[in-house]
Amino acid sequence: MTSKPGWTVPLEDGLVMRGATPGDADRLSDYNAEMHMEPDEYPGPAFWIGEWTRDLLTKPHPRMKLDDVIIVEDSASGQIVSSTVYFDQVWSYCGIPVPVGRPEIVSTHPDFRNRGLVRKQFELLHRWGDERGHLVQGITGIPYYYRQFGYEMALEMPHPRTAAVSQLPKWKPGESPTVQLRLAKRSDMPDILRFQSGAQKRALFTPDLTSEDLEYQLFDRDPRSATHQEPWIIGDSGGQPVGYVAIKSIFPLEIAHVFALEFADRGMFRAYTEPFLKSLRQVLIDLPEEDEKPLQKITVELHEGNPATGFLGDSFHARGRIYAWYVRTPELPKLLMLTAPKIEERLAGSDFDGLTGEKLIGFYRSGLRMKFEGGRLAGVAEERMPDRSEAAANFPDLTFLQMLFGRKTFGDLTAMFVDAYASKEEDVRLMDTLFPVQHSEMMFALS
Ligand SMILES: CC(C)(COP(=O)(O)OP(=O)(O)OC[C@H]1O[C@@H](n2cnc3c(N)ncnc32)[C@H](O)[C@@H]1OP(=O)(O)O)[C@@H](O)C(=O)NCCC(=O)NCCS
Repeated sequence: MTSKPGWTVPLEDGLVMRGATPGDADRLSDYNAEMHMEPDEYPGPAFWIGEWTRDLLTKPHPRMKLDDVIIVEDSASGQIVSSTVYFDQVWSYCGIPVPVGRPEIVSTHPDFRNRGLVRKQFELLHRWGDERGHLVQGITGIPYYYRQFGYEMALEMPHPRTAAVSQLPKWKPGESPTVQLRLAKRSDMPDILRFQSGAQKRALFTPDLTSEDLEYQLFDRDPRSATHQEPWIIGDSGGQPVGYVAIKSIFPLEIAHVFALEFADRGMFRAYTEPFLKSLRQVLIDLPEEDEKPLQKITVELHEGNPATGFLGDSFHARGRIYAWYVRTPELPKLLMLTAPKIEERLAGSDFDGLTGEKLIGFYRSGLRMKFEGGRLAGVAEERMPDRSEAAANFPDLTFLQMLFGRKTFGDLTAMFVDAYASKEEDVRLMDTLFPVQHSEMMFALS
């Protein structure tokens, strides 16, 4: 068994694939820091990946066990030559829990690349996913690569916006701040969960966060880990908590990131985002210790569905490129049946209220037959080599996932791919009714 403690799989050329042990912490941290170097950002090993790895191997993690850290090593020399980590997660699809697996921290030593070592690890972790009932795998990664393992880049990621700290708005001399920022404590967790629940409500997909998940994320990471974020409470002029923000600043990198910014209710984003930025400016100026250089830049990494993105003002000029999560859906019929309550809610009151009959969605070599009874989704069955002339809509490759994960409309896809089409206008409308575009909120997909 490959998920039991001490599991080992022999590979070719004297290599062995095995689960990690606590004794691997230093070596794997050093290896990952070397493999994930970013010379444009920092001249040495990526210590932030090293510290993340060390956290995973030395402390309890709510969503991962040590046997889910895969190491490939040369059995003669003991050298680590490749590695991947697999996290168990639960995401919410409009409030419906979906079991998910997340591979991360993937690399192979340059001397061992292009021999299929990562492919082997993905075959293994996809098997684990099947055993654990994972209906989605999601990974954030380098462009194109994971398509080769059945993934589509179909789930939105935050769109980074950067400003110089010196350009952020500031409080005028004598003006009394209407927003106060203070470092959060563990005892603030009930408030933080309350503020974070706004993100859960507006999202199509979002991690189904437990209090333990969020507390681990915000309070238990090494401060030098790539995944560490420091929570701050946003108070009104009297100090009453009205929201929270998660800030990542890794020294000596001279840039800080805002990863979550939530207020108690939606109207507060308009009222508080600008005053928040004024107080944030002072926090960023004060953050570096005496021996550290001042922070030059702040990057806000919020999903487009976060109302604050509309109120950030003119200081945030540089917009980073749009990117996406890779997703894989090993059992699409099961996933669609799980989302049936939401699909039925969309049908009710639409032009397809009370829909009865079968609708075939074709992917050319395979397809899905969706059976509706009186507006209920009664079944979804996989079909091999479907008849494309019978299909309500046809999608090439994995492009259907762009709709299922809320990133593109059917019109977007038909404009991009001539072999994505529906012959009848009513089926175009049905696709948009069943799978509307909606933002997701993927902060805190715990890794
Ligand atoms: C990207 C990386 C993980 C690939 O590891 P690897 O062990 O060489 O990968 P594999 O050999 O299993 O790759 C599977 C297939 O992808 C191909 N491939 C390898 N690197 C690729 C790349 N960067 N882009 C596209 N395809 C690539 C391989 O040739 C192989 O093709 P094949 O199955 O048709 O023979 C490795 O180059 C690496 O560690 N890079 C630096 C760190 C990094 O970028 N990690 C990924 C972070 S998300």
